[in-house]
Amino acid sequence: LGYFTYDPGFMATASCSSQITYLDGDEGTLLYRGYPIEQLAEHSTFLEVCYLLLNGKLPNMIEMVDFENIITRHTLLHDQVQGFFRGFRRDAHPMATMVGVVGALSAFYHDDLNIHDPEQRQRSAHRLIAKMPTIAAWSYRYSMGLPFNYPQNRLKYTEDFLHLMFAVPTEPYEIDPLMARALDIILILHADHEQNASTSTVRLAGSSEANPFAAVAAGIASLWGPAHGGANEAVINMLREIEKSGQPLSWWVDRAKDKNDRFRLMGFGHRVYKNYDPRAKIIRELANQILDRLPPGNPNQKLFDIARELEQVALHDDYFKSRNLYPNVDFYSGVIFLSMGIPVSMFTVMFALARTIGWISQWNEMMGDEESRIGRPRQLYTGAEKRIYVPMDQR
Ligand code: CMC
Repeated sequence: LGYFTYDPGFMATASCSSQITYLDGDEGTLLYRGYPIEQLAEHSTFLEVCYLLLNGKLPNMIEMVDFENIITRHTLLHDQVQGFFRGFRRDAHPMATMVGVVGALSAFYHDDLNIHDPEQRQRSAHRLIAKMPTIAAWSYRYSMGLPFNYPQNRLKYTEDFLHLMFAVPTEPYEIDPLMARALDIILILHADHEQNASTSTVRLAGSSEANPFAAVAAGIASLWGPAHGGANEAVINMLREIEKSGQPLSWWVDRAKDKNDRFRLMGFGHRVYKNYDPRAKIIRELANQILDRLPPGNPNQKLFDIARELEQVALHDDYFKSRNLYPNVDFYSGVIFLSMGIPVSMFTVMFALARTIGWISQWNEMMGDEESRIGRPRQLYTGAEKRIYVPMDQR
């Protein structure tokens, strides 16, 4: 291999240095800019966490008000972007729509293309933070054949998102404070997670000096897969299948252990966490609180009960114990989304909405880092040796 090492899946490669997020997978510790995720989930708001991740410090009151004003000023989408939505099939997966629309933003906001100007980089970040809820909600409403709702600047970030998703244009829409706060917490928990597949994709795409909207669209594409952000959707599909099958949970766990069966327990395991994912702990507690509020016997309660039982069966199983496989952030989040009325097809879109701040903060850090250079991994070539071209009539 000469002077480079073979490291498939980047198991042992630090691709950059970063001051944004710290993760200790053995201890189950997650810090954003030094602040423990548990404290942020309890005391902060998603928009404050956006400020923190982007700027490296918590805002004071004046900075926070300014930041909120800036974000609310950018929530609208260019009128022609609406036309762009209409180009998609109605039954398109909302992730497909989102990846296309975010990539297309670079065609509308040309001034963002000067990526060497820190002020313009901030502006691109603000635009993305502000527009993602609108894009996410419109992806959903378009897929349902519903008219688009417009952002309301009087509302807080998560309240506005619920309004964009669910308001009926001719009727007043009442925001449920518990749901708005639960959404805030879920967005905080998903906001950044150092060099995961989608963030590394954003960095790699951006390292060629591609514009931020294109780089973030690449991140959304990478997030979509079931081994990454698509796992939240896969978890609910799995729980529903388990419920329908009538098979005992041990049967499903045995399937997950069988190497000849491609089935895995979705929402279990993590490349870095070899201990309980701290985000999953918070989400499980949040799911408890939300389900307590719903009438008994609702279908989400049943799914949550199956999830909790499945966790117990797996955690007491030698296969899962010996491999340090614990529930991850995606295991319980779907139950909460369903309780909010957010359909399964929107789950990964919700993840993308939250992770946008992580992507753009990491991109901004990379663009401001003098040492950063184009990402260009090498390979271990296993193909044919040098050979002679044979003309077609002689093959
Ligand atoms: N069910 C059954 N076995 C598993 C699972 C699972 N969910 N996850 C890992 N394993 C086994 C795997 O078969 C392997 O066994 P062995 O050593 O005998 O070959 C061992 O555990 C190590 O797994 P790996 O696939 O080599 O580990 P990885 O770090 O490459 O993959 C992962 C991590 C998250 C992709 C994987 O655990 C997985 O596929 N989990 C299910 C999907 C999921 O929940 N993804 C969300 C991840 S967290 C949120 C996010 O990043 O977006």
